[in-house]
Amino acid sequence: MKKIFNFSAGPAVLPKPVLERAQQEMLDWHGSGMSVMEMSHRGKEFTYILEKTEADFRQLLNIPANYKVLFLQGGAIGENAIIPMNLLNGKSADYVVTGAWSKRSVEDAKAYGHIHVAASAENSGFTHVPAFSQWKLNPDAAYVHYCTNETINGVEFIDVPDTHGVPIVADMSSHILSRPIDVSQYGVIYGGAQKNIGPAGLCLVIVREDLLAQASPLTPAVFHWKTQAEHQSMINTPPTYSIYIAGLVFEWLLAQGGVAAIEQANIAKASLLYDYLDQTDFYENKIEKAYRSRMNIPFSLRDEALNDAFLKAAEEAGLLQLKGHRSVGGMRASMYNAMPIEGVQALVTMMQSFAEKHTKSL
Ligand SMILES: Cc1ncc(COP(=O)(O)O)c(C=O)c1O
Repeated sequence: MKKIFNFSAGPAVLPKPVLERAQQEMLDWHGSGMSVMEMSHRGKEFTYILEKTEADFRQLLNIPANYKVLFLQGGAIGENAIIPMNLLNGKSADYVVTGAWSKRSVEDAKAYGHIHVAASAENSGFTHVPAFSQWKLNPDAAYVHYCTNETINGVEFIDVPDTHGVPIVADMSSHILSRPIDVSQYGVIYGGAQKNIGPAGLCLVIVREDLLAQASPLTPAVFHWKTQAEHQSMINTPPTYSIYIAGLVFEWLLAQGGVAAIEQANIAKASLLYDYLDQTDFYENKIEKAYRSRMNIPFSLRDEALNDAFLKAAEEAGLLQLKGHRSVGGMRASMYNAMPIEGVQALVTMMQSFAEKHTKSL
């Protein structure tokens, strides 16, 4: 099999041992004679898988007992509508815009009530998180929404603002499980699975119990958090195979030493690439240092005319899916938990030799 490193922003690289285990268990899960794909979601086998997956997820993030974990569908974009349906309850909500995904959240939520943009970094080209002191928060808002890691722009939150008791709703799709977090600082945390959790089709929602009582009666049952919490996320058929793979990823992560250990690996990987970007004139990352994402690193070549040649050289070196998002251009290296440091070393080596070759020929 061809040796490659996959820098896709999502769906993204999964840990190899997880894929191998899924392969071994594909036709016969634990002697049941069935593939997980063929099991009833209400049978004892899948019930075991779901309960173990939730328990491991709770352990990894140290989720307090007064939070529910929901296994939903509709992705993070679905949550853009599901959140106001479940939380607005006639009030307004504050949104902070730090990149393409939080901007999209505002647009999607507007149909459901009054959405107020409390701060935005759009005018500066999404290169930082606006200082918390500049956020114009409404003390009566139903919630404050922001995206803790902007996958497209490469901006990551480190700290959590003081919202004076207004619940924080955080889109953590692209860095969940990459570093320890204090769940109790949030009202709701959500994320599509297809980056650090598993295959697409699953969206995990962590919601504080006291926030379950305020959904609009128009909320569909599959998106009604309280209803789903009361039915172990099974008011409909959940995405069983995606949940199973997520469970294997959680087991793998626990075996790595959990999120504290993976954070150290993520720091080492991100530093390798940022250190190189900072000492070369050939490439550039425009994000302010304090807000640079460890997971998604956009960079551009000073000479954009070399973009195609760069992608071709990368592909020849087995470094795949490095093309930047169409709205930003340039390149983007997504380096989720499952990306080994060897992948980042190979990327930096390739970038160095490409720069050397093309500097000489200038
Ligand atoms: C931060 C963030 N939010 C939302 C989304 C949208 O997720 P989905 O396509 O699963 O709805 C993405 C997808 O890449 C994302 O990275």
